[in-house]
Amino acid sequence: MVNYKDLGLVNSREIFAKAMQGGYAIPAFNFNNMEQLQAIIQACVAQKSPVILQVSQGARKYANQTMLRYMAQGAVEYAKELGCEIPIVLHLDHGDSFEICKSCIEYGFSSVMIDGSHLPYEENVALTKKVVDYAHQYDVTVEGELGVLAGVEDEVSAENSTYTKAEDVEDFVKKTGVDSLAISIGTSHGANKFRPEQCTRNEEGILIPPPLRFDILAEIEKRIPGFPIVLHGSSSVPQDQVAIINKFGGAMKDAIGIPEEQLRQAAKSAVCKVNIDSDGRIVMTAAVRQVLVEKPAEFDPRKYLGPARDNLKALYEHKIINVLGSAQKA
Ligand code: G3H
Ligand code: 13P
Ligand code: ZN
Repeated sequence: MVNYKDLGLVNSREIFAKAMQGGYAIPAFNFNNMEQLQAIIQACVAQKSPVILQVSQGARKYANQTMLRYMAQGAVEYAKELGCEIPIVLHLDHGDSFEICKSCIEYGFSSVMIDGSHLPYEENVALTKKVVDYAHQYDVTVEGELGVLAGVEDEVSAENSTYTKAEDVEDFVKKTGVDSLAISIGTSHGANKFRPEQCTRNEEGILIPPPLRFDILAEIEKRIPGFPIVLHGSSSVPQDQVAIINKFGGAMKDAIGIPEEQLRQAAKSAVCKVNIDSDGRIVMTAAVRQVLVEKPAEFDPRKYLGPARDNLKALYEHKIINVLGSAQKA
């Protein structure tokens, strides 16, 4: 058993309280490899932002849980070396069982998500409470989820009331004891968040997605005032980067994200944590594709992963400064 405090990590309680008071949100960036983690730390240190390092189940399979934990420990030391001790949370993203959450807690994670959002309500409550009861013994914070994120890939449509039911949140928070709650108000995972036919076109022909359901968010805030809310699926899918991918041999079609203006608005509310993964993947892929096409003789991974890392750092700084408002809040 490793306690996260011995690794120099923090849980999310205090940084969420400050974010709530200050009207900004903490970035929750996913990582699977060294370059992504370096870019996250470089950007957060440069902007003096607290950060949540997210490890998905896919990341655990890809990179190995032990590797990722030691990388996070290294990230704490790296931030110090860069000259700024920012609060760093190591968080399990979309944990789907008690056992996975327990294992991460024992490995030194400071925060876990138990995603019971696909379960019937009472089962979600029971599973989430079980994780909370275990996690709180070690002062590890827990994120639960209510409502299912819409996804074009699984044919879940907004009309099927996949949005979080505001009338459930008070009961869920009370019964489970969770520290934060992920909600569904129109975001979804991946680079294809909306089908083109769900969007309208502006004068320049650019697809404009339907707005997030700020009315549901407001209703939730009314029912659980001051309680930290989490937004998953919050990539904006930068169109200039998608264009680079496609110019250099890629085939990303109908890629549409959440407009940054709406995330800016959300960050000022009770939304304290904003999850961004796909945008980083897109920026990294664009840089790698461009280098490999423009310099076909190149075969040193540092020559394409290096530029990808630089562009990732710039992306994360942009999110921190212009979207989430977490700069200078470390
Ligand atoms: O919420 C999902 C994250 O973007 C992680 O995705 O399971 O492919 O690592 P992944
Ligand atoms: P995106 O796919 O929009 O980046 O969402 C990531 C996420 O929610 C991770 O949990
Ligand atoms: Zn997610």
